[in-house]
Amino acid sequence: MKIAVLPGDGIGTEIVAEAVKVLKVLDLPLELEHAPVGGAAYEASGHPLPDSTLQLAKDADAILFGAVGDWKYDKLDRPLRPEQAILGLRKHLGLFANFRPAICYPELTHASSLKPELVAGLDILIIRELTGDIYFGQPRGRRTAVDGHFPGSEEAFDTMRYSRPEIERIAHVAFQAARKRGRRVTSVDKANVLETFQFWKDVMIEVGAEYPDVELDHMYVDNAAMQLVKAPKRFDVMVTGNMFGDILSDAAAMLTGSIGMLPSASLDKNNKGLYEPSHGSAPDIAGKGIANPLATILSAAMMLKFSLNQPVAAARIESAVAAVLAQGLRTPDIWSEGTQKVGTREMGDAVVSALNAATTMTKTIKG
Ligand code: IPM
Ligand code: MG
Repeated sequence: MKIAVLPGDGIGTEIVAEAVKVLKVLDLPLELEHAPVGGAAYEASGHPLPDSTLQLAKDADAILFGAVGDWKYDKLDRPLRPEQAILGLRKHLGLFANFRPAICYPELTHASSLKPELVAGLDILIIRELTGDIYFGQPRGRRTAVDGHFPGSEEAFDTMRYSRPEIERIAHVAFQAARKRGRRVTSVDKANVLETFQFWKDVMIEVGAEYPDVELDHMYVDNAAMQLVKAPKRFDVMVTGNMFGDILSDAAAMLTGSIGMLPSASLDKNNKGLYEPSHGSAPDIAGKGIANPLATILSAAMMLKFSLNQPVAAARIESAVAAVLAQGLRTPDIWSEGTQKVGTREMGDAVVSALNAATTMTKTIKG
């Protein structure tokens, strides 16, 4: 099983190193190949997504990705900015289905910015369409306005669009995911204003008819944002477009205590995927050894489950993460009074120890 390891920028290198450490103790035939991406690749070769990196990603069975971006690249032309690397990978590999689970671990209920009773036991899954919408819609650009409020002035524009097949396939992904959980899908749109999202809603209803065992409801995105902070546990699976999903998934992430805990998977139609933490490159804390590696370690677990067909190994990692939290170990983002503050490396080491301890125990029990 070949894994392309793309650490990227900022804390990306630190957190991916910990996930790699965890993967290596699993006793699986994994072949890990590293390549630069984002700002790091721009520095090395003048492009955020070099051909060699893209080719490696295409050839691999799965991709483990860290994070890209740094303010120092904000002045570069858009095609050279680090973010283009992740957008390019999503587009070139057809990774249209983005899974962003937001789970609140019992030990972290108090790290949430919401009242503990609102988030205790929270387990929601945001499914974000990842290769369409205003992110990729053409045309886009700058021009001189010919109409609007200020004809003759400079203006910028983007295009929001979704085709029927794009909506249908993400709808199927959402309904099928809901079948494995609480059998409820909330489709988030802005059908009251946008033609694109009236169409989205219509197609969701059509596809939903094929899943009579799954309950479908609809919510405008502004209301969804409110409900996420008012009563997040009302959701099971939330499915939405690229732009709304970007915003709502950050909000959902924070409910769980820290965005540093949330993994993600971006899948193509054959379940080949790219796995990355839901957070960014955090240049402000890069190199300090304090970033939380758990989101990346949990992303590696998702990779084993979704793309590499290793559900047992995935479950082992998830149990090991639960075990280190139960031991009271916390990186600064999830630290609270009475728990033990640790750095990135110590957290990774603790997960490795928990994995080894679990293996020893199984061996002892098996005799
Ligand atoms: C995300 C990020 C990306 C996005 C950026 C880095 C391009 O915010 O994965 O949510 O907007 O999709
Ligand atoms: Mg985002």
